[in-house]
Amino acid sequence: MSFLRVLPGGDQPRPRSGSATSVRVEAPGKVNLFLSAGAPSADGYHPLTTVFQAVRLVETVTARRQSADDHGRVTLSLVDPDPAVPTDERNLAVRAAQALAQATGVSEGVDLLLRKRVPAAGGMAGGSADAAATLVACNQLWGTGLNLPELTGIARQLGADCAFPLLGSTAVGQGRGDELSPLMTRGTFHWVFALAHEGLSTPAVFTHLDQLRGWSRPAHGATGADDGAPALPAQVPGALSAALRAGDAVALAPCLHNDLQEAAIDLRPELGQVVDLAERSGALRAIVSGSGPTIAALVPDVVTGARVARVLAASELVSATVRADAPVAGARVVG
Ligand code: C5P
Repeated sequence: MSFLRVLPGGDQPRPRSGSATSVRVEAPGKVNLFLSAGAPSADGYHPLTTVFQAVRLVETVTARRQSADDHGRVTLSLVDPDPAVPTDERNLAVRAAQALAQATGVSEGVDLLLRKRVPAAGGMAGGSADAAATLVACNQLWGTGLNLPELTGIARQLGADCAFPLLGSTAVGQGRGDELSPLMTRGTFHWVFALAHEGLSTPAVFTHLDQLRGWSRPAHGATGADDGAPALPAQVPGALSAALRAGDAVALAPCLHNDLQEAAIDLRPELGQVVDLAERSGALRAIVSGSGPTIAALVPDVVTGARVARVLAASELVSATVRADAPVAGARVVG
């Protein structure tokens, strides 16, 4: 029995080749090694130059085939229920399954089971990793056969950070941060992440950056600021690319940069104290991860990482710490 429907536009349904009853996919969270933002455009988005690195904090999505009675619905449940993570259409995983179904003309639904390891609302793209994992899982379950560029196209419509977990490893993001090109990197880098007691809203951090820089969003149809060309993001420094190519954490440390850091610390001053504490306890460098509030501390080795994590975990400014190495591969089927 097939649950595929024929699109009214005349597109033929793709034959369902997936025969598994469930597909399990892992996708990584990320840290931004570099993030430079330009002035916002009329749609409110900021042109970015950013360098993503995928870290070994992995989201797992299991997509399960439904009974015929449920067909068409996308359901989501969490292995560890968390009030901070909605399970309805606010969740990017649900939206990802719906977007793939719509793009391919599939009317079969899916039951998604999500195990989270990336801190929620922490600036580490956990929700985006869930979306990426869901796209890969449902693509296999439904036998829709989209290739990576096609899945990437859907991911980009879901959010600026959703494409990177499909690719993984290390990549430069331009445009909204979603035009990706892989970056050569060698070896393993070690990170300690200090989690905050409360999340920070990404739009709020970008809006605060606008206030700090005196930027306003141009009216629709306008091309930029009144007093000349709009500010553009900086390019990736050559020293950062060289440090990655050499696998040299000591050389990488001074190249870490995040334009959103000042805004995030202004909104949450204690984050500055966490950065100082991480660096005083042995981190080569600590920065705000993405739009925060997670602080990412680059450490020289596993032993130092354990010490930095212990010191941070003992601070009342930090709710928990996690350690992870990087880079790791993008979304992949594991079962
Ligand atoms: O694309 P996504 O939904 O992840 O973006 C969340 C918010 O982050 C956007 O609504 C926008 O406020 C901000 N953002 C931005 N410029 C970007 C990426 C995100 O201003 N390049």
